Amino acid sequence: MNILVTGGAGYIGSHTVVALFEAGFNPVIVDDFSNSELRVLDGLEKILGFKPRYYAQNCNDPAVMRRIIRDESIGGAIHFAAFKAVGESMLEPLKYYQNNLGSLLVLVQTMLECGVTNLIFSSSATVYGQPDELPVTENALLPPSMSVYGNTKQIGEEILRDTSAAGKEIKAISLRYFNPIGAHPSAHIGELPTGIPNNLVPFITQTAAGVRPSLTVFGNDYNTPDGTCLRDYIHIMDLAEAHVESLKFLTENSSSSFYDVFNVGTGQGCSVLELIRTFEDVSGMPLNYRIGDRRPGDAAAVYADATKIYNQLGWRASRTMREGLADAWRWQQNMRIRDETPV
Ligand code: WQD
Repeated sequence: MNILVTGGAGYIGSHTVVALFEAGFNPVIVDDFSNSELRVLDGLEKILGFKPRYYAQNCNDPAVMRRIIRDESIGGAIHFAAFKAVGESMLEPLKYYQNNLGSLLVLVQTMLECGVTNLIFSSSATVYGQPDELPVTENALLPPSMSVYGNTKQIGEEILRDTSAAGKEIKAISLRYFNPIGAHPSAHIGELPTGIPNNLVPFITQTAAGVRPSLTVFGNDYNTPDGTCLRDYIHIMDLAEAHVESLKFLTENSSSSFYDVFNVGTGQGCSVLELIRTFEDVSGMPLNYRIGDRRPGDAAAVYADATKIYNQLGWRASRTMREGLADAWRWQQNMRIRDETPV
C-alpha cells in the first residue's frame, strides 16, 4: 500500500519512512523543505537502497494534494507536516494556525474526495500541559493550551474527532508523542535542528561535540526528586514503529469511520540531570553544563501511561534511553565528519 507521508523529510517523518518500508508499505513523501533538508533523502537512500518517491510541495494546496493522492494511488496518510517551535508559535500565531491546521484541513478534505480513509495525525504530549496525575492517560482533561503550537495539536485532534463523529468516511488515529530522541542506528538520518536547538538532546550532543560552549539546565528547583524536570524520552525508531502499528490497525479495521487517541511514550519519567549523567556514561564525554533559570512554560513533570496503545495496538517501546542517547551521539559525530569532509 502506498502511504503519503507529509513532512516526510523531517526528523520523525524520515524515521517513519524507514519503518514503513521495513513493514512492507511504500512511502511517498510530500515536504516543502521549509523546515527540513533535501540531504535527508540521501540518508534515506543509504538506508533503503533507493531514494523514496517525493514531492517538494506544500500541503496547503488542494490541487497539488489531490493530484498526488490520485497519481500515487495513495491508500493511507501520515500527517507530520507542521511547524513545531513552541516559542516561535507565540510570536507568529497566524503562521502556525495557517500552516498546521490549514494543511490538515486540506489533507482530510482531499482524502474524503478521493476515498482515502486511513489517517495518522502527529499530535503531542504538549496538549497535556502539566497533568494533574502521572503517568498521564489519554482520558486526562486537556487544559487550555499553553502555546499556539500546542493549540494547533489540540484543535487538530478535534477536527479529526468531529469529522469521524459526523460519519464521514475517515478512520483516524492521533498519536500524542512524548519526547523523541536519538537517530537511526546507521547514523545516516537523525535530528537536524535549525539554528540553536530548542530541545535538550540535540543541545547536549552539540555541546559534547564542541558546537555549543555549554548547556544550561533550565531550573533545578522543581518539585521533583533532583529538582530538574521529568520527561518521557522515547527512541525515535520506537516512535516510528508506533506509526506503522497504528496504520496496520486502521487498514485492518473494517468500520467506515473511526477515531481514537494514543499516548506514545515509554511510561518512564527521567530528569534532565539523569539524562545528562546517562549521556556522559554512554558517550564517555563529560558535559559542560550549568544550572540556570527555569524556562517559562515548562511543565515540571510529564510522562506517559502507555498501556492503551499496548492493549489495543500491541505496541510498546522496546529501546532504552541509553540506546537513544548512543544513537544521538553517533549521529552528531557522523554529521561532524560529513560537514568537515571536503566535497
Ligand atoms: C526537555 C527538558 C527543559 C533544553 C518540546 C515541545 C513538545 C515536543 C518535544 C514537538 C525540559 C530541559 C531543554 C535546554 C534544558 N515537540 N532543557 N536545557 O519542552 O519537553 O517538549 O519538545 O512536538 O511539543 O514542547 O522538550 O527537549 O525542549 O525539554 O534544561 O537547553 O529539558 O527545561 O525540562 P519539551 P525539550
